[in-house]
Amino acid sequence: MMTKKLLRALGGEVMDVPPAWMMRQAGRYLPEYRETRAKAGDFLSLCYNPELAAEVTLQPIRRFGFDGAILFADILLVPQALGADLWFVTGEGPRLSPIETPEGVAALKPADAVHDTLSPIYETVRILSRELPDDVALIGFAGAPWTVATYMIAGRGTPDQGPAHAFKEAHRPAFDALMERITEATIEYLSAQVDAGAEVVKIFDSWAGSLKGDDFLRYSQEPAARITAALKERHSGIPVIAFPREAGERYVGFHNATGADCVALDNSVDPEWAAANVQVSGCVQGNLAPGHMVTGGQALVDEVRRIRDAFSGGPHVFNLGHGITPDADPDNVTLMLETLRG
Ligand code: CP3
Repeated sequence: MMTKKLLRALGGEVMDVPPAWMMRQAGRYLPEYRETRAKAGDFLSLCYNPELAAEVTLQPIRRFGFDGAILFADILLVPQALGADLWFVTGEGPRLSPIETPEGVAALKPADAVHDTLSPIYETVRILSRELPDDVALIGFAGAPWTVATYMIAGRGTPDQGPAHAFKEAHRPAFDALMERITEATIEYLSAQVDAGAEVVKIFDSWAGSLKGDDFLRYSQEPAARITAALKERHSGIPVIAFPREAGERYVGFHNATGADCVALDNSVDPEWAAANVQVSGCVQGNLAPGHMVTGGQALVDEVRRIRDAFSGGPHVFNLGHGITPDADPDNVTLMLETLRG
């Protein structure tokens, strides 16, 4: 059997046409997603309905022919499984019961209790591993501990992660205990996804860029290294993609420091710089600005070619630098893939 293109790139192979997928490829920019979400009732009901979650995972594969399918779920299901209340406010985003004191950390459920809540997600993975086309790789994922902690402490998304930084400074032992609990829960969750059929896992550290100095090493790099090591110990050879978003200069060396097979780049770094400084250590993923999926045209074509050419000397997975937005035009996704593959 032919090895899937995405897995070959993650294994270090340099390819003429890199494999491609897109963060948030199942989402509101697709009419078929909006229809299925309406059928499910709301976003969380969709996440916990294995048949419908598998359906929305497959929709962008059918429409565009991506090389990777990312499990449809959310990084905030782990806090919910640890005991937080979670809901989504339309047009605003997620809300959780916030952790405001060390007692709030102590009240969380143990890491291995997460399976009680998350078992429908594993069923979604099992359905997908049966139904995906033979050449498409199934990507599982979780949030990184720091990013998940920022939502658990603030109870919502924040522009500067201020509440999490303040909690970290005021209650260091409780903050470290929270990071530890999320790290263990994440290992449990990702390991169960791999048991159910995920062929790659990605760790989303969307707010890594707000960690400065030693905090970056301690709360982004080190948890990524621990999760990667634990997964590889339990599941020999499982490829890991790490995404320390907006790490900037600290992308350099991230492969070696964490053991991740692939480092995903946001669109604030130049592809030429990243090829010379990050791709020298292993596979990179990225990094087209999501705005091109809204604006399209020649600028999109030029930028896809620039990124493909910049990374052509080493292993590369083509992707956006962050998630596609609801106002994107699906035709621009088609243009992106035609340009990349044509
Ligand atoms: O297609 C995929 O990428 C797979 C599914 C996926 C979702 N969220 C579905 C989703 C993945 C991998 C995520 C990751 C995620 N979720 C992150 C990390 C990546 C990033 O974007 O930085 C974060 C921070 C979250 C938390 C989250 N979920 C927020 C802040 C929001 C609200 C903002 C928004 O885009 O609406 C969500 C909701 C969410 N997660 C949606 C989707 C498709 C939109 C919900 C809807 O349908 O109304």
